[in-house]
Amino acid sequence: MDVDYDRIAVGYDAHRRSVNPYMAPIIELARRCAAQSILEVGAGTGNCTAALLAAHPARVTALDRSAGMLRQAREKRLHIRLTQGDATALPFKSGVFDFLLAVYVIHHVPALDRLMSESYRVLERGCAVFVTASHSFIVHHPMNRYFPSFSAVDCARFPHEDAVAEAMRRAGFMDVACTIVHGQPRPVDAAYAEQVAAKFISTYELIPRREFSEGLARLRRDVEKDGVLDFTITLESVIIHGRR
Ligand SMILES: C[S@@+](CC[C@H](N)C(=O)[O-])C[C@H]1O[C@@H](n2cnc3c(N)ncnc32)[C@H](O)[C@@H]1O
Repeated sequence: MDVDYDRIAVGYDAHRRSVNPYMAPIIELARRCAAQSILEVGAGTGNCTAALLAAHPARVTALDRSAGMLRQAREKRLHIRLTQGDATALPFKSGVFDFLLAVYVIHHVPALDRLMSESYRVLERGCAVFVTASHSFIVHHPMNRYFPSFSAVDCARFPHEDAVAEAMRRAGFMDVACTIVHGQPRPVDAAYAEQVAAKFISTYELIPRREFSEGLARLRRDVEKDGVLDFTITLESVIIHGRR
């Protein structure tokens, strides 16, 4: 089962605007390869697109397969081209971009080799960057204690970072490397519990309904009792990048 982004687009945009640790390294890579023509694959509601554009002005195309997510992106009135399409059959000629990014998209694309060969094809030169969750982050995520299938759900759909790097190499990318980045530790309080309630990460869409409501009720009870729980949550992302 995959996530219905058309249905969740409005909530997604409202809950996923927080500061993240991966934009600065992406911007640095875009600068390093003097990117002028950028493609963001699975751009969603355009949050990363906006951050990249503000720091590194360029011609930007944002592609997503969800019309609902693109509608939210359009409301931001960015000076970019928005295109509905699929990451495994990019509706562009070969060699028209010099930077490509895809942030938290590859877990929705089972045909990893196809995604990589399409990414390679549309680049003339430059760099491709894929941001995803590391398996160690998933396995050690503190919400496993409230939602017992959290780790199984995400390990099954997020490819391991080594597999992503190998797929990039098979497609022809050179100098492929992985970088781990961390966000700020977040307290687990009532505000956090309400983000879980709003299913701010798609994992919660995929956890069985009963398990989700029981886990959420327990989380709410705990934060109501203690205010702030005695552990924090630190986002860990892995950035896999390579050169064309
Ligand atoms: C977790 S969201 C990430 C959105 C955005 N990159 C961000 O970081 O906020 C995943 C996005 O990938 C899109 N997506 C999933 N599979 C796709 C595919 N095969 N082709 C294009 N977009 C896809 C979804 O519609 C959704 O907008």
